[in-house]
Amino acid sequence: MVTKHEPIPFLFNWYLNLMNISSSRLKALSAIPRYTRPRLLQHKNVAMTATFPIQPAARFAGQSEPVKRPKEFACFSYNKDHQYHPGDSSLKWYYPPTLGTDLSYGFEKFIKHDDSADEHLDSLLQTIANHEKETNKQIDAHIVTWRGMLTKIMATPFEDRDGFEMNATLYRNSIFIEERHEYKAASRREQDNQTWKGPIPQEVMQFWGYKFETLSTLPATWGETSRDYIESRDDEIVNNNEQYCSVVRTGLGKSVICLGGEVDAIWDSKPRVQGAPINWVELKTSAEIRSDRDMDNFERKLMKFWIQSFLLGVPKIIVGFRSRDGILVKLQEMETNSIPTTVQRRGRAGWDGNTCINFASAFLEWLRQVITDEGVWRIRRRPRSPHIEVFQVEEVGHGNIITDEFMNWRIKLSLNQPKPPAAEPLEEPLEAQLTGVQLPET
Ligand code: A3P
Ligand code: MG
Repeated sequence: MVTKHEPIPFLFNWYLNLMNISSSRLKALSAIPRYTRPRLLQHKNVAMTATFPIQPAARFAGQSEPVKRPKEFACFSYNKDHQYHPGDSSLKWYYPPTLGTDLSYGFEKFIKHDDSADEHLDSLLQTIANHEKETNKQIDAHIVTWRGMLTKIMATPFEDRDGFEMNATLYRNSIFIEERHEYKAASRREQDNQTWKGPIPQEVMQFWGYKFETLSTLPATWGETSRDYIESRDDEIVNNNEQYCSVVRTGLGKSVICLGGEVDAIWDSKPRVQGAPINWVELKTSAEIRSDRDMDNFERKLMKFWIQSFLLGVPKIIVGFRSRDGILVKLQEMETNSIPTTVQRRGRAGWDGNTCINFASAFLEWLRQVITDEGVWRIRRRPRSPHIEVFQVEEVGHGNIITDEFMNWRIKLSLNQPKPPAAEPLEEPLEAQLTGVQLPET
């Protein structure tokens, strides 16, 4: 934990030695503006809260922090009943849908995933443990979480309306972050209770996105799929229990991150070499653009599309534009990396990719200085709040974030390797995969 100090030279060096802070670490710490350093506020009978200011977001603009290309090192699938299976059994192949299709068709038969149960990080931990059993080595990530959590963090500088709440715990050199299920469920209830004035029910509009995925994918390559299947995709029952999830190692600034997240489809086939770029495809729907205002809205939506795909290394986003009543009217392929520059050029989107990267990078580095103890910590951003708060909610243990199974595995692993390895810095040179975001030249 860094405290404020006035550097009287010799006393300062003595202090550094005492705190075991190396000169490189000191340099890293002083690179963080002082006002973003952890501030622990002591209130009477209130847990100490560290706050990370979001504004002014302009301090995060400019050249982006080093970004590491995400590399898949494991994957898992949920089947049609949402049961976990290691491997890629639910992987789907992209094949263009037929324009003119009504995206509402089949809504009555929709098999919708029941997300009322808290799934924590269970599937991700199981997949990491399986991987570690193969390598007999603990993964080296500073941060382990679902892609969705990092999407929320990266979008924070330009997202004002929505808040978030997450739980985090430090376990064997990694901070594990999950969504706080109660908060998500309460936000959903609040949204459902608001009177909806639109002509089409919200549930039907939500179905359009899943229908588009079913219309645009095949369960095997084109060559292995019957013509009959391809032509009758409109009659397939839409079931969003089924998912393919990619687990990647990536990096933002000085933080090594392990992320798990759903990938909609693949363009061709997975490369033989593990870690090589994969031609993933993200499928999205959006209202067709008929005015400048529609374009402004679409470009705002592109921020989330970009962050989501950027984090897992998905190079292509295919947008299915639909009419106001849900007829698929147009397809557009977008290169993920060119999205930030494209929206910057038009100059009306009000978001900037470098700021998102630098904000998340600074926040994670700060978070690693705050969460240095066991217990459960809350990461919270209240709607419209100018800062993110972090405070401890349980002093011991890991809540329900880490499963017993995972802990048992780690204990077994540590019997072979008594000392868990410290997370290593990004050892490979920066791979400039982004054309839309400025990267340093080193
Ligand atoms: P669209 O993104 O085409 O609207 P994802 O692309 O993230 O895998 O999500 C697939 C679909 O799930 C979305 O399709 C949308 O229908 C639904 N969905 C995802 N996140 C949602 C949210 N926060 N609220 C409502 N629906 C959501
Ligand atoms: Mg999608």
